[in-house]
Amino acid sequence: MMQTALSIENIRKDFPILQRKVRNDKQLVYLDNAATTQKPIQVINAISDYYTNHNSNIHRAVHALAEEATEAYEVTRDKIAQFLNIKDRQEIVFVRGTTEAINLVAYAWGRQNVSQNDIIVTTEYEHHSNIVPWQLLTQEKKAKLQYIGVDDNGELILDQLDSYLESGRVRLVTVSQMSNVLGTITDTEEIIRRCKKAGVRVLVDGAQSVPHMKVDVDKLGCDFFAFSAHKMLGPTGVGVLWARKELLENMAPFHGGGDMIREVHKYETTWNDLPYKFEAGTPNIADVIGFAAAIDYLNKLGMDFVRQHEIEITKYALEKLSQVKGMKLYGTSDITKRGGVISFNLGDIHPHDLATIIDEDGIAIRSGHHCAQVLMERLDVAATSRASFYIYNTKEEVDALVRSLHRAARLFKLE
Ligand code: ALA
Repeated sequence: MMQTALSIENIRKDFPILQRKVRNDKQLVYLDNAATTQKPIQVINAISDYYTNHNSNIHRAVHALAEEATEAYEVTRDKIAQFLNIKDRQEIVFVRGTTEAINLVAYAWGRQNVSQNDIIVTTEYEHHSNIVPWQLLTQEKKAKLQYIGVDDNGELILDQLDSYLESGRVRLVTVSQMSNVLGTITDTEEIIRRCKKAGVRVLVDGAQSVPHMKVDVDKLGCDFFAFSAHKMLGPTGVGVLWARKELLENMAPFHGGGDMIREVHKYETTWNDLPYKFEAGTPNIADVIGFAAAIDYLNKLGMDFVRQHEIEITKYALEKLSQVKGMKLYGTSDITKRGGVISFNLGDIHPHDLATIIDEDGIAIRSGHHCAQVLMERLDVAATSRASFYIYNTKEEVDALVRSLHRAARLFKLE
């Protein structure tokens, strides 16, 4: 316990922004980590070092800077392979983020493999980025989009998957490994097992899971896996699509341009090797390099430590929040089935009003539909407030949140 408390204190020293005072000279309490995490000095320095000492385009010139930049960029790919137990680095494609990764699959794989009356299955707790690309695809192909429902505990009703699979028309099941609203950890292994039995492809959206728990892509056995750097201490504008090599090989390119080609002639082009076939144009070199520093940082802590810390903080927060009068908490109370994301509503205070009130105390949470309006409809609310935790959050910060919520409850005469 002592060890953990000391470590968190040391971790916090690596995050300059956590020293900031915000509104009314209040100490910042940053609880919006599901939207984006803060960056440690090691990541900030890696980006600054790249621009200060190594800035160059990659994969093109033979000069020293080009070689250094290319090497650093490609090292990140190796670190990702090791971090997620991906056996073949050619299967790791750098993209702008999870959203682009899913759009890439919908465009390049979906347009080749989905036809009229086929079915794509997603879930009611997906982020818009795992719904809208499939709406576009199914509308274009006259295919169908079906949803696995969410029960009152915030978990997926997996029996519904079976009935879709029985139709023999499902081409892809696409599911988030952790809900960005409810924090529910999906039983992805079970979904993949059922889909494999039926010969159906699976895409896993790891945007909320990879930053918070150990993920082994090889063991998971899915076909596509997507995640973003900025939710795991890294920079914005960088993410990864992992896909099985045979799928990437058979897919058409997503973007055309430099670096993705082998030869270009007036009327025909041949493609570069994987993964470059899917990395057209000058990529986000500096931020890919910064991403490596984020992975180093998480490796130093260990993902078991990260998960354990979040379990402790979330358990504590659920207990304290439930004591605020008028509090409605969403999602399961089984801490083993949820990550460090808590959505709530307080009386009938609109989440934006609530977030504004507690912002006066320096506390940053997200309010709104969290890019998950299908789930909001399921929960029968327009919006929720959401506190989300990461490695640097403390129980004292949870206490500050709870104190501020009591103040809001008193203002609205709930207490
Ligand atoms: N996907 C991010 C969130 O949940 C932006 O807040």
